Amino acid sequence: MSNKIYIVTGALGCIGSWSVYHLVKRGDKVISFDISDTSHRLDLLLSPEEQKAVTFVRGDLADPAQVLEAFQKHQITHVLHLAALQVPFCRTNPVKGAQVNVVGTINVFEAAKQTGISHIAYASSIAVYGPSSDYPHGPIIHDALFAPRTLYGTYKQANEASAKVYWQDYQLGSTALRPHTVYGIGRDQGLTSDPTKAMLAAVLNQPFTINFSSRVQLQLASDVALQFIEAADIPLNGAYGFNMGGEAYTAPQIIDMIHKIKPDAPITFVERVLPFPETFDDSALKSYFSNVYYTPIENGINQTMAHFEKSLQDERFAKVLIV
Ligand SMILES: NC(=O)c1ccc[n+]([C@@H]2O[C@H](COP(=O)([O-])OP(=O)(O)OC[C@H]3O[C@@H](n4cnc5c(N)ncnc54)[C@H](O)[C@@H]3O)[C@@H](O)[C@H]2O)c1
Repeated sequence: MSNKIYIVTGALGCIGSWSVYHLVKRGDKVISFDISDTSHRLDLLLSPEEQKAVTFVRGDLADPAQVLEAFQKHQITHVLHLAALQVPFCRTNPVKGAQVNVVGTINVFEAAKQTGISHIAYASSIAVYGPSSDYPHGPIIHDALFAPRTLYGTYKQANEASAKVYWQDYQLGSTALRPHTVYGIGRDQGLTSDPTKAMLAAVLNQPFTINFSSRVQLQLASDVALQFIEAADIPLNGAYGFNMGGEAYTAPQIIDMIHKIKPDAPITFVERVLPFPETFDDSALKSYFSNVYYTPIENGINQTMAHFEKSLQDERFAKVLIV
């Protein structure tokens, strides 16, 4: 058994639950740090028996003392910092959004610095970029100019700028990953959660309308989690941020793929363009990491819908698997 001890902030969220899942399956020691007291996403992935391998800490990322205590008490060696409030929550409560997303991230860097950790992996987002009209035609190149149009995006931008200063002043290295549209089991909230909700609705045979039409780069939550683990495991010399890649699909294309599995599912979409570019170039990520995880979309949708189908047979999930 390795002597690595991972902390996953936001471990009860979508990407967090998948990260915990992979770490537990690998036999690593995991500390879950989350403010939530419900583990419905993790329950969909790991049995109660399997969850006994996880140490659960209920804590608020915005409180520096609680974050530092978790790092010290559990002798953390590896960090996946994923906790954040997503776009709609930041829009509703900008102050809270900044406390969690910006101050919370500083709290993680400080705890890492104070406990002698030399590298962390954390979640940024393609929301650091502006709309397509800000950029030349085609996939957005690595580290194109940041021009966020949401507060959430400005918070992520602040985090990437802070990370550079932690490297410059303290040699605390970091790798930020910028997912686009994560889908899969557990993706039940946030601006781009509709493709996953549509998959669940199709399994439930309920009507659902995807709230956008423009192309999104769909990234399977399981793959994204594996990439965060890779980023935590392989320290880089500096403060890096990487776009994630993959094929981009419009809402009608996503619906067509869902219809291949559930031909009569009453899924529709509205004509609306999301306020960020449709495709990002991940060649920088590929040049720094030998493993870049990407499940082809049709396999990912198949796996997700089969997982929903199977979970719905378990009465524990009837209350959480709703759209
Ligand atoms: N899901 C996506 O498509 C996507 C895209 C780009 C970036 N990201 C980023 O990836 C990360 C993970 O996203 P996700 O989809 O898993 O999000 P999620 O909303 O499913 O989970 C976030 C988790 O953070 C926890 N949390 C919130 N406030 C907290 C606090 N004060 N203290 C401790 N925990 C707190 C929540 O309880 C939740 O379990 C986030 O940083 C998000 O901004 C996600």
